Amino acid sequence: MEKTYVGTVISTINSPSPSSVDFVVTNETVHRGQFVEMEHEHGIMLALITNVVKTNKYFERADSVKEFEASGKAILEQFPTAEWEYIVANTRPLGIFTESGIKRPSVPPSPGTKVYLARESLLKKFYGFDDNGVYLGRLEFHDLDVKLNMTKLLKKHLAVLSISGAGKSHTVACIIEELLERKKEQGRIACIVFDPHGEYSSFAEPAKQGYVDYSDKTLLIQGKQIRIGVPNLNVGMLAGIIPGISLAQRRELSRILSELKKEMRSGNGPFDLSKLKDAIASDSEIKTNTKSALLAWLSELESLHLFGKTDLPSIRDIVMPGKLAVIDLSDIIDLRKKQIIVSYFAHKLFNERRKQRIAPFLLVVEEAHQFTPEKASEEQAVSREILRTIAREGRKFGASLCLISQRPVQLDTTTLSQCNTKLILRITNPYDLDHIAKSAEAIDKRSLDMITSLQVGEALLIGEAVGYPLFFKVRQRKSMPSKHEMTLEEAAIQFEESVAKKNSESKAYL
Ligand SMILES: Nc1ncnc2c1ncn2[C@@H]1O[C@H](COP(=O)(O)OP(=O)(O)O)[C@@H](O)[C@H]1O
Ligand SMILES: [Mg+2]
Repeated sequence: MEKTYVGTVISTINSPSPSSVDFVVTNETVHRGQFVEMEHEHGIMLALITNVVKTNKYFERADSVKEFEASGKAILEQFPTAEWEYIVANTRPLGIFTESGIKRPSVPPSPGTKVYLARESLLKKFYGFDDNGVYLGRLEFHDLDVKLNMTKLLKKHLAVLSISGAGKSHTVACIIEELLERKKEQGRIACIVFDPHGEYSSFAEPAKQGYVDYSDKTLLIQGKQIRIGVPNLNVGMLAGIIPGISLAQRRELSRILSELKKEMRSGNGPFDLSKLKDAIASDSEIKTNTKSALLAWLSELESLHLFGKTDLPSIRDIVMPGKLAVIDLSDIIDLRKKQIIVSYFAHKLFNERRKQRIAPFLLVVEEAHQFTPEKASEEQAVSREILRTIAREGRKFGASLCLISQRPVQLDTTTLSQCNTKLILRITNPYDLDHIAKSAEAIDKRSLDMITSLQVGEALLIGEAVGYPLFFKVRQRKSMPSKHEMTLEEAAIQFEESVAKKNSESKAYL
């Protein structure tokens, strides 16, 4: 392919160096964010344009500009200024394609080196894009799809972070579409979403015209339908959701639970919380105060209306290769109840996957700061420990996490730092930026500065999925978005109309 010549490397105080190369633009226009390539003694060097500066000798000195303009005639009219305007592009060398692979530049190219727009083939190789990968968008200024290798993107976990409204859920919907469209021979994983706002339930609806239908690949579970089978709980999991349980109490609970399980196996059938309570109440060995404490806690758990005799749904029914399970928690207000659900099902997912009883999966956690918060007591964060465990160990078993949050500061650092790929959309809060910078080594100051000026749908990808930080525009989604949030005007009109309707109905009745 013919290369497009754009300029020539110039010699200034700071450039060319291994970390900074400036060139004067002699041909075409170039943009910040565009990639260029040039010959180098070790191979072909790829560089990113970080800034484009226009200069003109006529306007360099403030005193002479003032003096000439004082004559009443603009400098532009007095001199051939346009001929003296030139453009310098600052670039940051990214890597050199040598015979033995891509190397970091250690010596600069020479002044006078010709600079060309980077060929797409080179960029594709540099970022490790994969034809078989997850298609998420396009590189700006280049004719190239961002297709990320699924393993590199997800295996060591993904965090999607930004302020609210910048496009996190949209981007994750694109990732889910890609997972659902994979063919068996490409390797397809299961996807489970904990969805506190019901944003993904539209995947389960028949698609309107113009959208791709994923309803036959989606299972929707409403939070209210969920039941946790008490016989499936072990004492560790129960202790995790009972605040401040003592060792003695735990021991008694464990003993009675295993007695009940034994009875169950001998044909008594599964038991629920009230049966567990009965067993504790009628136990003669247990001390009175231990007994009453345990009974009080179990009554509290009973009031959540969450526990039953068996799991509903059963994990093995909802985790299928190439399919999506949306666990819609929007009908549950109690945060603790939501955390218990996340904790229980995350435990199950991890354990079943470890035993290879279910497919490799991606577990998407929306509003992840609610489920793995940075600052919260154990009791107020019952789902944190298991999410930490999956973050730490999941990669070995094909159990991947995708954490989504608009409050990175409130997200547990331990979990966040295990997310080896970060997809960052617009962020403005300096504390959030700082928190992210601390959890990601690859991020440099210049990339960090650019995050605050990203538009909706523009993303910075760093970490495992790409060799070098990558800015790109996230593609349109193919799935139908969830019902849009009403504007204040719409909500007000709807309210008045419903009142008017009620009034006219009651008048008709009179
Ligand atoms: N890449 C994109 N292209 C087009 N529209 C987008 C893109 N990303 C987000 N949007 C739109 O912006 C709005 C907010 O996006 P959303 O994903 O809900 O943000 P967040 O989850 O970060 O709060 C939505 O209406 C969505 O359709
Ligand atoms: Mg969202």
